[in-house]
Amino acid sequence: MNICVINGPNLNLLGVREPQHYGNGTYEALLQKIQTYCEQKGINVTFYQSNQEGDLVDRIQAALKDGTDGIIINPAAYTHTSVALLDALKAVSLPAVEVHISKVEEREDFRQVSFVRSACIATITGHGFDGYLEAVDILCRHIEETV
Ligand code: DQA
Repeated sequence: MNICVINGPNLNLLGVREPQHYGNGTYEALLQKIQTYCEQKGINVTFYQSNQEGDLVDRIQAALKDGTDGIIINPAAYTHTSVALLDALKAVSLPAVEVHISKVEEREDFRQVSFVRSACIATITGHGFDGYLEAVDILCRHIEETV
């Protein structure tokens, strides 16, 4: 099974940015955690992070051709603004899980909208880095059930 974990803008600054919302762990530590978890489960995982909306669209589209079975995506601020990411997820029609490190539903009003949500099979918020591991489990269960 091949999954791709896509992270949006400013998540490369994990460990530095707003630790009260995102904790002290770095982006590299996040990737290591997911990598180790996936290795234990025999899942092949690739990672992508960009601060550019169009590059995130390109990466989602590339999943059509590179054997990706499912996507885990934290679109970060683009969650709340991007019809392009929603359309890209719909276009590739792969199972996707939306993850947010912080509990977005308890934050500002402008974070209460998620454009990508309707293209995702599940959403996980507020579980820190562990939310990505939960997403792996949900995604893999879904893929196994649908093949
Ligand atoms: C985030 C929440 C978003 O509202 C914010 O813009 C982010 C990170 C999260 O992981 O909690 O950059 O997606």
